[in-house]
Amino acid sequence: MIFYGGDYTPEQWPEEVWPRDVELMREAGVNLVSLGMFNWALLEPEPGVYTFEWLDRVLELLHGADIRVDLGTPSAAPPPWFARRNPGARLVDRAGHVLGQGGRQSFCPSAPEYAAAAANIADQLGRRYGAHPALALWHVHNEFAGVNAHCYCETCAAAFRDWLRGRHGDLATLNAAWGTAFWGQRYGDWAEIEPPRLAPTAVNPAQQLDYLRFCSDTHLANYRRERDVLRGHSPRVPITTNFMIANCKWLDYWKWAGEVDIVANDHYLASERADRHVELAMCADLTRSLAGGAPWLLMEHSTSAVNWQPRNIAKRPGELARNSLAHVARGADGVMFFQWRASRFGAEKFHSAMLPQAGTGTRIWREVTELGARLAGLGELRGTRVAADVAVVWDWEAWWALELEWRPSVDVTFRERVEAYYARLWEANLTVDFVHPEAALGRYPLVVVPSLYLTTAAAAKNFDAYVSGGGTLVVSYFSGIVDANDTVPDGAYPGALRELLGLTVEEFLPLPAGSTVTLSDGSTADVWTEDVHLAGARAVVSYVDGSPAITRHERGSGAAWYVSTRLHDEFLGRLLRRVCAEAGLAPADLPSTVELVRRPPFAVAINHGAEPVRVHGRDVPAGEVLVFREEA
Ligand code: GAL
Repeated sequence: MIFYGGDYTPEQWPEEVWPRDVELMREAGVNLVSLGMFNWALLEPEPGVYTFEWLDRVLELLHGADIRVDLGTPSAAPPPWFARRNPGARLVDRAGHVLGQGGRQSFCPSAPEYAAAAANIADQLGRRYGAHPALALWHVHNEFAGVNAHCYCETCAAAFRDWLRGRHGDLATLNAAWGTAFWGQRYGDWAEIEPPRLAPTAVNPAQQLDYLRFCSDTHLANYRRERDVLRGHSPRVPITTNFMIANCKWLDYWKWAGEVDIVANDHYLASERADRHVELAMCADLTRSLAGGAPWLLMEHSTSAVNWQPRNIAKRPGELARNSLAHVARGADGVMFFQWRASRFGAEKFHSAMLPQAGTGTRIWREVTELGARLAGLGELRGTRVAADVAVVWDWEAWWALELEWRPSVDVTFRERVEAYYARLWEANLTVDFVHPEAALGRYPLVVVPSLYLTTAAAAKNFDAYVSGGGTLVVSYFSGIVDANDTVPDGAYPGALRELLGLTVEEFLPLPAGSTVTLSDGSTADVWTEDVHLAGARAVVSYVDGSPAITRHERGSGAAWYVSTRLHDEFLGRLLRRVCAEAGLAPADLPSTVELVRRPPFAVAINHGAEPVRVHGRDVPAGEVLVFREEA
């Protein structure tokens, strides 16, 4: 069975509506709902006073209809009484503003009062529902760090110092790691260290990096605390939380992934982008990769428009199914929506739902019920694993480091390069696994490293072993520049990767906005160039002055390519086709509007184009999705 359903908010409706909800859920094929994520004030109206009876009735109703429950803990929405009683647990921004209530997640993630209250309500829920037959899954919190990723209050400052003691041990080590000789920042006492609050100029980048690590770890500790409480009540019920791969830069999900029983992600389309389906595919591949290739759960997406983008573009007919099935194609064993029924009030009343404001006589409702029926017939896919062709390196720490202030060019960003390489591979119908820089790479014929500015010595060694052992590696510019403390290794760039790439970079030559360069093979590029010197590698393509632009270095039985400029998409595609051929990868012979993903023994073909296509002898009409069994 593929899970199908959405966030259910019965608390927003009179109780008479609930039986109709459940009836309609059955009609739509819903078999799982997420419940309770923002109900803290409704379950504990005063500290220590609990009103679970209404939730009991909701669970009974769902259970009676054979609908399973993904039960949320409400810790993302502490009640108003919590903020009033605990002024020290409020969120403080970088400028020192104490942020207000009236929204959600407006609490300091380091606050001990918050930790105690959140653990308590999780405990109450665990006691009451841990053995409930409808309970399929625990859903801790909602989108950790969604809006309170970083707090800069005094409690956080003290917690940061403790965390730093754990990481660096003593002040001398910290001073060395942070390079505090620069601008005379040497610390003589732990109490002198602050979070990187808003300052008149750039704050020490190593300090900023450590703060980002500390914050990610703090949210993770909050997750673990609640998880462990729930585990005590229901050791056999899986526990998860919803990641937000596309929209959250601030959690190091590689660290988080091992802490959940099933990886779950929320994905919302970048609705104004023409290539939004490619971005969707990338996020789905990243989610599966976090799950180590195991099936995962799409915890939230939308049936149509969201309400929080500048312009909330509605999905067009068929897009809902294409989006949902694209996630399934890339390994999701469940597709859930935010939300079951559209709210009539509150901040999200213009957000689409499975059951729109206009009710069941709507296109969205029709498409929702059609999808439910379709998924009911796809149960055999459950548990199958996606077959990937290529690995792309992804690292949150490198992302953070690259995008701190005062880099050589504001036009160089992490996601931009990852997406550019990913999209070219997508067009060639090659399926991507994302990998941590220090992960095992041996099973991939090709590994791509897009702008990995922060490269640890261990990662560099890993890439080297991969290439020496016969792998093909493609490295994009501005990789291997600093270590984990944002420090440049001794000697020429790219310190960590010089030997592997067989070259040095004497100087970065970023380009003025809007200017382009033409290379010796006619390719064009923009944003970034470099003064590259060969030290074992061979130039494959050069800049006009004859200096190397794209190089290839044979090492052991493999090869490491280096691309020192931002090739325009067409030419990056051409280069990657050449490298793929060298690595023995044959792109599928399909139009670039067709997406073909394999979950052996099944395959899923999605036709994003306006014309029908034939895929492996089968017709796929325009805009349609075909799931088929591959020939043995
Ligand atoms: C998610 C969140 C949901 C809802 C949704 C709207 O980020 O988890 O509670 O706000 O966005 O798109």
